[in-house]
Amino acid sequence: MKTAICPGSFDPVTLGHLDIINRSRVMFDKTIVAVMVNPAKRTMFTVEERIKLLKRCTEGMDNVEIVGFDGLLADYARQRDVKIIVKGLRALSDFEYEFQQALANKKLNPELETVFLTTSAENMFLSSSVVKQIASFGGDVSNFVPECILEDINARIREEGGKFS
Ligand code: PNS
Repeated sequence: MKTAICPGSFDPVTLGHLDIINRSRVMFDKTIVAVMVNPAKRTMFTVEERIKLLKRCTEGMDNVEIVGFDGLLADYARQRDVKIIVKGLRALSDFEYEFQQALANKKLNPELETVFLTTSAENMFLSSSVVKQIASFGGDVSNFVPECILEDINARIREEGGKFS
C-alpha cells in the first residue's frame, strides 16, 4: 500500500490545501495529512483546532487521515513507515524554501522522497497568510476556504480583535 504524508501548518486549511489533498488521494492509497508546528509562524488556531477543522473539511474521504505532530517531519515519517511527502508548489517564490525543507528532510531520513504537485492555476496566489490578512481586515474569504470553516475564522477574528498574518 502506497501512503504519502501531506504536511503543513494548515492555519487555516484553504481550498488550495484541499486541492492538493484531493490530488494526493488519487495518486496514493492513503494520504496522512499531518498538522505540524512551524516555529516561524504565529498561528490563529491551535494544532487541536486545526485538526478539528481539517477533519470537518475531509469528512467522507475514506483514504485520508488527519493527525497532529509536534516534532520533526522526518521522524514522524519514520514512525509511520512512510517514505513519500507530498507538497503543493505555487510559484518560484516557494521553491527555495521547499527545496531546503526537502533536502533537510532527506538528510534526516534518507528514505524520504518529496513529491511536489503544481498548484492549480486558480490557487496560485492563495495561502493561509493571505486568508488571515484579508479576514483580519474584515474582508470576505469565502472564495478561498471551505465554507464549513468560514464561521470559525470570522469568530476567531472577532474574539482576538487583532491582526493575523
Ligand atoms: O504550511 P507550512 O507552514 O509551509 O508547513 C511547513 C511545515 C509545518 C511542514 C514545516 O515547518 C515542518 O515540517 N515542521 C516540522 C519541523 C520539521 O521537520 N522541519 C523540517 C526540517 S528543517
